[in-house]
Amino acid sequence: MTIQWFPGHMTRARRQIEEKLKLIDVVFELLDARIPQSSRNPMIDEIVGGKPRLILLNKADLADAEQTTRWNKHFKAQGHETLAIDASNGTGVKDISGKVKELLREKIERQLSKGLKPRAARALIVGIPNVGKSTLINRLAGRNVAATGDRPGVTKGQQWIRTGSDIELLDTPGILWPRFEDPEVGNRLAATGAIKEEVLHIDEVACFVLKELAPRYGDVLSERYGLDSLPSSLPDLQSAIEVLEAIGRRRGCLAGGGHIDYEKAAGVLLRDLRSGKLGRITLEGPEEAMEPIGASE
Ligand code: G4P
Repeated sequence: MTIQWFPGHMTRARRQIEEKLKLIDVVFELLDARIPQSSRNPMIDEIVGGKPRLILLNKADLADAEQTTRWNKHFKAQGHETLAIDASNGTGVKDISGKVKELLREKIERQLSKGLKPRAARALIVGIPNVGKSTLINRLAGRNVAATGDRPGVTKGQQWIRTGSDIELLDTPGILWPRFEDPEVGNRLAATGAIKEEVLHIDEVACFVLKELAPRYGDVLSERYGLDSLPSSLPDLQSAIEVLEAIGRRRGCLAGGGHIDYEKAAGVLLRDLRSGKLGRITLEGPEEAMEPIGASE
């Protein structure tokens, strides 16, 4: 689902998260491991404030494992606890509980020293639409419980969901907006399917993807689409269009008169990318994360 975010939505979404923060011990900030920076909310540090936070790099099954390790190190260097997970299949999810204990160690020790039995840690999942919030809630709960209606400003009764471990989750996640004013971020969000491509031109998104992939994943492109002479860099739009045209020709994406149907060719490329048919691909490295978000505020 595509959400059109307006300033009013953002204010309401933020207020709702701030209300929920009062109830919880720890925030799970869900990012897309393929685009950890672009799937991050620009005001997250300000919104979460001093609450203990665990960054979860979700969809790690689709991301380049080497890049995911680099992103983990990057966030650790910024003082965050992180974990790569695949909420669909459950990989890494069982390690969340250990990370939460680390994050809340002081609090737990204080409770123990007072002779109190530590209660379950109360957690809130936050993230942009489509990052996998409901999938993770259902995975942690062991059944389908996540509230649907991924819309800013939709409030409903909140419930605590017990998980198999000592974590209780709020059933309604906090929905955040991405930094979509930046065209590169918009292209990355569209490439991974976080925003629907109608918002942007699908052939432009495909050209962006080709330019990004050619230097790092050129072999994968050449092999999948039988491209014999793919250059290691596509310096301009024209060179990317030529590759898209070659893909279209190989895949029979033809319009009338023997012309290539660029939109169809773009659809082939983006479907392959999103479904993992091109292999595990990350679209941005931590070198592109210029500064900790919020540092300039
Ligand atoms: P949201 O609540 O944050 O909006 O996201 P949701 O859980 O609905 O997940 C969005 C899509 O991402 C779903 O695809 C879901 O299966 C997929 N997904 C979530 N976590 C993972 C993961 O770790 N790995 C992979 N490969 N996929 C994941 P969908 O049901 O097919 O929906 P659609 O977006 O294709 O319509």
